Order: sequence, then structure tokens, then C-alpha cells
Amino acid sequence: MATTPDTPSFHFARRLKAVSDRDVDALRANFLDLAERFDASTLGEHTLFPLQMTWFYGEPVWHELSREKQLMLNRLSFCQSYLTTAVAEIATNVLNLQASLDTIVDDDPDLALYMAREVVEETMHVQAFLCLIRKVVAHYGLTLEQLRGANVSLPMASWYVRAHTAVGWLRGDLNFYYFTRYALNVNQKTVERCSINEPDMHPLVRTILKNHAIDEARHMQMSRGTGLVALSRMRTSAARTVACLGYALFASNVFIGRHLKDSRLTRTARTRTLELCGVPRERAVLAYRQWHERTNQPEDPPLVRAGRAYYLRCNNGYIDDLPVGAWVKQRMKRIIAQGYSDVARGDDTAIAPLEFDELRRAS
Ligand SMILES: [Fe+2]
Ligand SMILES: [Fe+2]
Repeated sequence: MATTPDTPSFHFARRLKAVSDRDVDALRANFLDLAERFDASTLGEHTLFPLQMTWFYGEPVWHELSREKQLMLNRLSFCQSYLTTAVAEIATNVLNLQASLDTIVDDDPDLALYMAREVVEETMHVQAFLCLIRKVVAHYGLTLEQLRGANVSLPMASWYVRAHTAVGWLRGDLNFYYFTRYALNVNQKTVERCSINEPDMHPLVRTILKNHAIDEARHMQMSRGTGLVALSRMRTSAARTVACLGYALFASNVFIGRHLKDSRLTRTARTRTLELCGVPRERAVLAYRQWHERTNQPEDPPLVRAGRAYYLRCNNGYIDDLPVGAWVKQRMKRIIAQGYSDVARGDDTAIAPLEFDELRRAS
């Protein structure tokens, strides 16, 4: 990064590192110890994912499933969501370490250490999630390989790394990567915070997700802060405009729940996961089509709508803070609102977004 140890703009990273330094010794205790303690036979009636965000929730196919199978679908939605998160976290590790390498050679070693610290934290998150996921799928006589086989969108993480490596190589830094990461952070946060608030959530898994949300809130501040600095350091307004419009297009395609645009990868992952619950392929394919085309439920469940509105509001708040002209901001908001037209009014939200309290670790 084009900075020096005294550059005030990256001071937020020192504060983030100080918080991380305080928590790092408890990393195993906050994640892997808990995941290792998790016993799938205690699942009982507990959910692992927000009920209203469970894939196919409220659709005819949902009502065709027994209570047991509905719970299985809820838990497999958790497994798929966190398998995707784990893979994305490995992808960010590749880019974080590359950014750390460039920064320790050319710039601020403390900033470099914080970038590398995120890698340590993410690695622990991934280990804990995989431990949990393996236990949940084994409870249903399934394997991680079967889950991974159904989740055909996982290779996208590799493309994300390759694209940012190429852009980073052309630009000479990875600031744009941090800039785009914000949209992924908000998306992940929305689902995770709803899971934590879910009344029937398994208590041990809730604690792990709460610990994760606390770390990720810090990672999101890094994305937000670095994004703002990155943009202000782009030399020409043309470069800033291209970066901003690129961000808006990316953010518009990052989805929560049922998105307007269809994608083969999403369709296949959801259909195959339904098949893992014993639904025949033909029925699963039809169920996806009806769900996506809003045949049976024109409106999303209230939690999904509020989550989508929250995503939109966070992005609009981020855009308001960017050091670019008013028309670029308007354009960005409109591009994102196009992907979220079900909850957008003009470039703002038409329904009340979610509100989240500040989280604290369980003592
Ligand atoms: Fe994480
Ligand atoms: Fe993270």
C-alpha cells in the first residue's frame, strides 16, 4: 500500500489490531474448543439457521417435508452457507497474505501484521466450521464430500482470488480487494446475526456464531476503512469512478435469499441440497423454478425482506462516505437498488431494515 507508518488514514487498523491482540490468546477457546465439544445428538428440535432464510422455506415443497426433514433442510442450509463462508475465508487468506507481504516490504509493518492476523483468525474460523459441519452431516449419514459435491458454487472463490490477484498486479496494490470485501462482509453478517437471534438456535452453535460475528465486525471495519483510503488514493477521478461502478455492480450481484437474477450455480446448489433431503430431482428442479419465479410466495418472508433492506442500507451508508462526486454516488446506489428492487424505493429502502445490538462475548 502506498503509505508510511505515520500516515493517519490507516490509524484505524492500529485500533483493530489492539482489539485483536486482546482476543487472540482465546482464539482456540472461542472457536475450535466449542466446535469439538458440539455433540450432534443434542440437536433435538434446535435449528442452526434462521427458519425464514432456510432454503425453500414456506414453499409447497417445504410443506411436503416431514418436520424432521424440514429441520434437516434447515441444518443443511447452515452447512452449505458456512461451507461457502469457510471457502471464502480461505480465499481471503490468500489475498490478505499477499497484501501483508507487499505492506511489510514497502510500508507499515504494523498494518502488515494486522493483515496477517486476520489470516490467523480466519484459519481458526474455518477449522471450527468444518468440525461443526462434519458432525452435522454425519448425524444424517452424509459426508462432507457429498455436501461439497452439491455446492457447485464453491470454485467461484478461486475465481475471486484470481481476479483480484490480476487487478492487484495491474494496480500494484490490493486495495480494491478490501474495497469489494465490504459487500461480502455485510452479506455474511446479515445471515449470521439473524442466526444468532433465532429463538430455537442450538445454544453452543449460537455461541460460536456470536464469537465469529465479533471477529467479523472487526474485519468489516478493515474492509470499510481500507476501501475509503484506497479510493482517496486513486490519482484520477476516472480511476475512482471505474472502481466505484465496479463495486456497485459486484454488490448488486451479492445476494441474500431470493435474488432477481438467476444463476446456474445457485440453482444447482439449492436443487442438489434438496435432493440430499430425499426429494426426487424432478420435484427439486420444479421447486427451485417456482421459488425463483415467485410463483407461490410473491413476497419473501419478513426476515428475508428486512435482511435485504439491511444490506441495501449498509451499502448506501458506505457509498455516502466515499470520497467521490454526487453523481457517482447516485449511480452506484441505483445500480445496487436494481438488484434489490423488491426492497428498494428509488435508491433507498422501502421497508424497515434489520437493527442489531452490539455483541459481547459470553464470559
Ligand atoms: Fe471468519
Ligand atoms: Fe473475516
